[in-house]
Amino acid sequence: MTAPVPAPAAGPALDWRDGAPVSRRHGESYYGAADALAESRHVFLAGNDLPARFGPGFAIAEIGFGTGLNALAAAEAWTRSGQPGVLTYTAFEIAPLRSEDMARALAPWPELTHLADALVTAWAAGRRRIAVTGLTLDVIEGDARETVPAWSGRADAWFLDGFSPARNPELWEAGLLAALAQRTAPNGTFATFTAAGATRRALAAAGFVVERVSGYGGKRHMTRGRRALP
Ligand SMILES: C[S@@+](CC[C@H](N)C(=O)[O-])C[C@H]1O[C@@H](n2cnc3c(N)ncnc32)[C@H](O)[C@@H]1O
Repeated sequence: MTAPVPAPAAGPALDWRDGAPVSRRHGESYYGAADALAESRHVFLAGNDLPARFGPGFAIAEIGFGTGLNALAAAEAWTRSGQPGVLTYTAFEIAPLRSEDMARALAPWPELTHLADALVTAWAAGRRRIAVTGLTLDVIEGDARETVPAWSGRADAWFLDGFSPARNPELWEAGLLAALAQRTAPNGTFATFTAAGATRRALAAAGFVVERVSGYGGKRHMTRGRRALP
């Protein structure tokens, strides 16, 4: 008897626009700017005062792993900052990309090629705990509204990168924001590309001191914040 051939991994349906993957379900691109790596560094790294806050045992958590671009930007920043050891990075994702789509989405950045190759190879093998230079990555599959409350970890910095609140409201619900605030280290922070007023108010209600700051490129604003002291 011949062994059954495994079905090819399913992934979310995508279109491609100007080289960027676009979710058919949400009608929105996984990353916004022409240079999404520069945008990631501005919004998620600088928005969380990184790499300046990096130190031993530092932990990042991300809502919406997508292509892995933010994770690789963080890994590259960690290594470049000269930190010993590795950064801990936990990402929550409901619809993992096919490895072919991930490879295509990460191809535009030659400076990330060595990291992208390691990530895509492990991803294609079905691994979700992955070591790349500078980073130990755990991708927790499922709906973040269930997986974040079930998570026993703590983040020093959150990257809130769901699709926009208008198109992906479930990732900006008060219950999820409260759960992630509770899983934020003292003095922990978050950053997100959105500056929607309702989202800022929900983050403040969840327990963050919230600040609206300049966005990347053409975007006027983004939001960042720090866990309010009790
Ligand atoms: C803007 S994309 C993330 C881009 C990503 N950070 C990157 O570096 O490529 C938003 C992500 O949120 C995920 N997502 C949407 N709803 C979700 C949910 N309820 N739970 C977990 N992930 C979700 C989508 O599948 C998608 O991968």
